[in-house]
Amino acid sequence: MTGNHASSIATRDALPDYAERLIRNRRAVRAFHPDPVPDETMQAIFSLASAAPSNSNTQPWTVEVVSGAARDRLSEALLAADARKHLSVDFPYEDELYSEVHQQRRKDFGETMYTALGIAREDRAARDAHNAESLRFYGAPHVAVVCAPANADPRMAADVGMYGQTLLLAMTAYGVASCPQGLIGFYGNTIRETLRIRTGKVLFGVSFGYALDCAPVNHIRIARADLAETTRFHA
Ligand SMILES: Cc1cc2nc3c(=O)[nH]c(=O)nc-3n(C[C@H](O)[C@H](O)[C@H](O)COP(=O)(O)O)c2cc1C
Repeated sequence: MTGNHASSIATRDALPDYAERLIRNRRAVRAFHPDPVPDETMQAIFSLASAAPSNSNTQPWTVEVVSGAARDRLSEALLAADARKHLSVDFPYEDELYSEVHQQRRKDFGETMYTALGIAREDRAARDAHNAESLRFYGAPHVAVVCAPANADPRMAADVGMYGQTLLLAMTAYGVASCPQGLIGFYGNTIRETLRIRTGKVLFGVSFGYALDCAPVNHIRIARADLAETTRFHA
């Protein structure tokens, strides 16, 4: 057996362990250090993310990576739109979309997160301030705005979702923390105007950078449903 062959077996044997650590160690981070991610790391991450699968390899996503002064301008525009209640939701959202079991998981998540933030359920002002913080990208130095084509139908959301998770895992692999943010998709017109992009429907943003380890909100663990609740094996 050649040395190369032996090492490829060793790598293969280590893959489940890498995957367990990579997938389970990724989590949504909501407080960031202002230090930017180096350009080479950015290139590596977005290049790796573009290996995501898609229907017939159509790759129907476009991604706007926003940093520096452009990031500050975008955050200001989002905060101003929010203050004016100027929402422009590219993919309409209603709470009623969720059935009882989904509502319950959402409630459990909210309780865990708001407890870590020290925000009481009835404290509307503090919750609004937290929402505003999310439009400052939780202090992250970068945000990637992930879009589908202007004529996107729900099927394309599957492709863009696959891209999204591939991107989050690529970031995790390179030691970069992230928070996917559906809320950013509530301001499609503001984003298009500020970034001067003509087309594309905004599905979500991903704030990213280095995690602020001292923030309690970055230490929450959001549990998942038991496997049997979501997955059936047929034989
Ligand atoms: C499509 C999508 C939209 C999300 N939108 C938001 C958001 O607007 N704000 C936020 O703080 N987190 C958002 N999240 C993060 C989820 O709350 C988080 O992934 C979930 O609670 C599980 O926690 P974990 O990622 O730490 O495991 C979103 C996640 C996804 C996949």
